[in-house]
Amino acid sequence: MIVLDQVSKRFQRRDKSWFDAVHPLSLTIEQGEIFGLMGYSGAGKSTLLRLINLLERPDQGSVAVDGQELTALNAGALRQARQNIGMIFQQFNLLANRNIADNVAYPLEIAGWNKADIQTRVAECLAIVGLTEHADKYPSQLSGGQKQRVGIARALAPRPNVILADEPTSALDPITTRSVLQCLRDINERFNVTIVIVTHEMSVIRRICNRVALLDNGHLVEVVKVENKQLHPQSVVGQELVRED
Ligand SMILES: Nc1ncnc2c1ncn2[C@@H]1O[C@H](COP(=O)(O)OP(=O)(O)O)[C@@H](O)[C@H]1O
Ligand SMILES: [Mg+2]
Repeated sequence: MIVLDQVSKRFQRRDKSWFDAVHPLSLTIEQGEIFGLMGYSGAGKSTLLRLINLLERPDQGSVAVDGQELTALNAGALRQARQNIGMIFQQFNLLANRNIADNVAYPLEIAGWNKADIQTRVAECLAIVGLTEHADKYPSQLSGGQKQRVGIARALAPRPNVILADEPTSALDPITTRSVLQCLRDINERFNVTIVIVTHEMSVIRRICNRVALLDNGHLVEVVKVENKQLHPQSVVGQELVRED
């Protein structure tokens, strides 16, 4: 479970003025949920996602994941706690000079796993995302959808309870998007991993999310349930977002 309690984040602009990217907000995400963060560009979605693993440290408030208050940990303990939180990115962020297997192995090497365990786990994760035959290829030899599957395998490798996904399908065509979302859903169902997914596309929310937080100019406008691909926001912004997809 992820509990954000009155977190906020402001950035200083070049002209030294302050800008509230995330106004104080509270949010609870249950274990095993696929939870969306949705809003227009600049709404604060990525900042909010990065507050969950403290890639951005909140100015106020606390962040707890699986009962552990991350905002109270020292650097070493935080590094350890982050093993429980995988991340995937719009531009995949693969290491170009490592083959696919070694990309997936990377977080396990950092975490100090031994060689034999790494090899076993990498093979498992490549099988889960359907890339076993591509293990020896390099990222440049793969399609966008395959690269994102490598990203998913890499995030999954350390057996996290949570995966954070920042616009994971925004660089992909509609058909590839479908298959990558299916892959995320499979992982969620098989391993009960909580997935928090940032998107500006309502279609992504409809396809895989259980609930979605609608953000507008750094404010949490409302949290809406998705049932049978339908959602019924009460807010003006929410209704606008639904209407436009
Ligand atoms: N490191 C930063 N420094 C200054 N401003 C930032 C920084 N990160 C984000 N912002 C600003 O905060 C706002 C929200 O950004 P972001 O969370 O990336 O929005 P979204 O992901 O919804 O498009 C934007 O106006 C952005 O320019
Ligand atoms: Mg963003």
